[in-house]
Amino acid sequence: MNTSQDTRLRIGILGAANIARAFISGVAASATVRVSAIASRDIDKARRFANATGVQGAYGSYEQLLADPAIDAIYNPLPNVLHAEWSIRACEAGKHVLCEKPLAVTGGEARAMFAAARRHGVVLVEGFPYRAQPHALKLKELVTGGAIGRVQTMHAAFGFTLTDEANIRLNPTLGGGALMDLGTYPVSLTRLVAGERPTRVQALARWHRSGVDQTLVASMEHAGGLLAQISCSFATTAHRQALVVGTAGAIQTTYPNHAPVDRAPVLQLKRGLAFDGPYEDIAVQACDGFRAEAESFERLIRLGPGHWTGASSDESVDIALTLEAILESARSGQPITIAA
Ligand SMILES: NC(=O)c1ccc[n+]([C@@H]2O[C@H](COP(=O)([O-])OP(=O)(O)OC[C@H]3O[C@@H](n4cnc5c(N)ncnc54)[C@H](OP(=O)(O)O)[C@@H]3O)[C@@H](O)[C@H]2O)c1
Repeated sequence: MNTSQDTRLRIGILGAANIARAFISGVAASATVRVSAIASRDIDKARRFANATGVQGAYGSYEQLLADPAIDAIYNPLPNVLHAEWSIRACEAGKHVLCEKPLAVTGGEARAMFAAARRHGVVLVEGFPYRAQPHALKLKELVTGGAIGRVQTMHAAFGFTLTDEANIRLNPTLGGGALMDLGTYPVSLTRLVAGERPTRVQALARWHRSGVDQTLVASMEHAGGLLAQISCSFATTAHRQALVVGTAGAIQTTYPNHAPVDRAPVLQLKRGLAFDGPYEDIAVQACDGFRAEAESFERLIRLGPGHWTGASSDESVDIALTLEAILESARSGQPITIAA
């Protein structure tokens, strides 16, 4: 940890990623975390990025950043297929890791990542900014508190239009595809609501000419009774919505990552069995998801597991197993059973 007067957690970023800019600006006002350095495979790019974002340190390789003793933790926003390798290397270097979603593209990778974190005595978590938001915490409280009875069905969707052919999301060798990018959100929301991983999944996809899934829908069956459906697409208008339906009520939400003060997140609750509602608005504070997530990550390191609001290691392993199974089902056309 930082021994100078400034006790903020010192975060180093692997890769001059687009999302790293949003992360840096999100945490800029934090009193507990700060971004201290950025590493790129190209030192000029690292310097330009550092200048543009006000970050102090710039490195021309990821290895150099991991070797810096003045870095406490790593934020990993590399392409999805590099999450496992570089998060494990960060753990080996004794750094705590906040890794972008999806933590891994297979369940096996996710398990290996958590094993590395345990071996090296560091904290590793998957970043889902929406999970640190008051609306997600409230949704979890409502569901687990029985506000809508036993959850029977849920539908969660996320999509937008992506046309940039050079984007990593359309590159099959980098872990691209609508599921691994957008589908991670509805899959993780389903895991949050279900409290367990699905036992069986079945998926259909439309494929982009690059080979990645461009639009995908999947059904998931859970031992506890929940039947869930998710959809994700790079070929639709921007949308992000979820409907969670139980034996005694329903919740609808936009479960956003970030909620500008002038656009509060939608979280609505209908109690009872009547057909036409009403849905009552649940007031939840608006905030930047990256800041909330990074501050929760800092509390997790300093104070322990009860202070982390995001996905637990079990949840992240389940999410990775589910994503892997859904993709296998979409490719094979067969339902896939996920081992207990
Ligand atoms: N939580 C969220 O709200 C959110 C939003 C968007 C994205 N994400 C996640 O963040 C990650 C990055 O997304 P992004 O849109 O920011 O990606 P991006 O702009 O393409 O950045 C990825 C970075 O990875 C580095 N990299 C290393 N090897 C690479 C390779 N072979 N090809 C391309 N880049 C390579 C590059 O940095 P250098 O060239 O500097 O080394 C590049 O800038 C993804 O995992 C995505 O799922 C999360």
